Amino acid sequence: MSDPAAPPAILLRGLTREFRGRGAPFRALDGVSLEVAPGGIFGIVGRSGAGKSTLLRCVNLLERPDAGTVSVLGREMTALDEAALREARRGIGMVFQHFNLLSARTVAGNIAFPLEIAGIPRAEREARVAELLPLVGLEARRDAYPAQLSGGQKQRVGIARALASRPRVLLCDEATSALDPETTEEILALLRDIRDRLDLTVLLITHEMAVVKAICDRVAVMEAGRVIEQGRVFDVFTRPAHPTTRRFVAEVIGHVVPPGTVARLPAPNAGEERRLLQVLFAGPSSTRAVVSEASRRFGLDLNIVSGRIDAIGAEPYGLMALAAYGPPPAIAEAVDWMRGLGLDVAEIAGEDAA
Ligand SMILES: Nc1ncnc2c1ncn2[C@@H]1O[C@H](COP(=O)(O)OP(=O)(O)O)[C@@H](O)[C@H]1O
Ligand SMILES: [Mg+2]
Repeated sequence: MSDPAAPPAILLRGLTREFRGRGAPFRALDGVSLEVAPGGIFGIVGRSGAGKSTLLRCVNLLERPDAGTVSVLGREMTALDEAALREARRGIGMVFQHFNLLSARTVAGNIAFPLEIAGIPRAEREARVAELLPLVGLEARRDAYPAQLSGGQKQRVGIARALASRPRVLLCDEATSALDPETTEEILALLRDIRDRLDLTVLLITHEMAVVKAICDRVAVMEAGRVIEQGRVFDVFTRPAHPTTRRFVAEVIGHVVPPGTVARLPAPNAGEERRLLQVLFAGPSSTRAVVSEASRRFGLDLNIVSGRIDAIGAEPYGLMALAAYGPPPAIAEAVDWMRGLGLDVAEIAGEDAA
């Protein structure tokens, strides 16, 4: 597992990359800095065109940044000459969305391919392939050709090939984006399993927050070549700060207030107010009967508009929307009291709230 005190396995500082076409130069990366702890599974999420693939390709210098530095496992990649870079790249595996398998080669032949390129002798290649096949659950398909494999099996080959040279870092570019949801789960479970067994550091990019929620411990959200938010997955999911992140998160955990709800809520009585509150429960306070107790203590009507309980990794959380009716000072006191219990309470606008 990741140890926050250990030096980063991947350290990116101020990466900028421009593409020059006929028109004005296009800035695909605009000052990106990231740190990935060893043993971590770090997700980069963003819409198509955000710069995710360009960033990932900068890690092994398939793409050379115009400015900034890349360090992997303590080695500054941006300072290496071609020979040293080729050597350093063997410590970094890469998995692709469309597998990129050689159709005329068997499963074993595809897995052995990078070892052939590196000039590893045949006997050693075969021994390594024999180790990798069971690791990815493909012993029985050793001599099959890619056309005979399912999408999930093809990606297992892609993962085994990426692991052939015993890398310490694995880069995954939309590794599950061509797969159905069930196969996605299998492949994510496999990635987690090999991270644990081989003590890898994984940097994966995806446009799906569900992938981040399923497997990552930290996440960075990219938009227009920049990182707009990053942190622990639990924190980013439960307290997204940037509006784009809030939209991404809502795709996975839903809107706190389902559309149309506010229009159906009763109006407050004369002299009272109606406030819509979003309450986040995380940790021990989640078991307390907060709603009924707040209602009694402060003389409020508290209607639960929506709620859900979920977990990210091993951490449970609950998210609830409450319509609070009562005199404004009583509502304010109830909010303070809930915050005092360690709950995260925010007033939300209603229909647009994510
Ligand atoms: N080799 C290239 N030449 C010109 N433009 C590129 C090149 N590679 C990427 N881009 C542009 O940079 C932007 C980011 O691309 P990319 O990193 O592939 O985004 P993502 O992986 O997030 O979808 C896109 O607008 C893309 O068109
Ligand atoms: Mg991409």
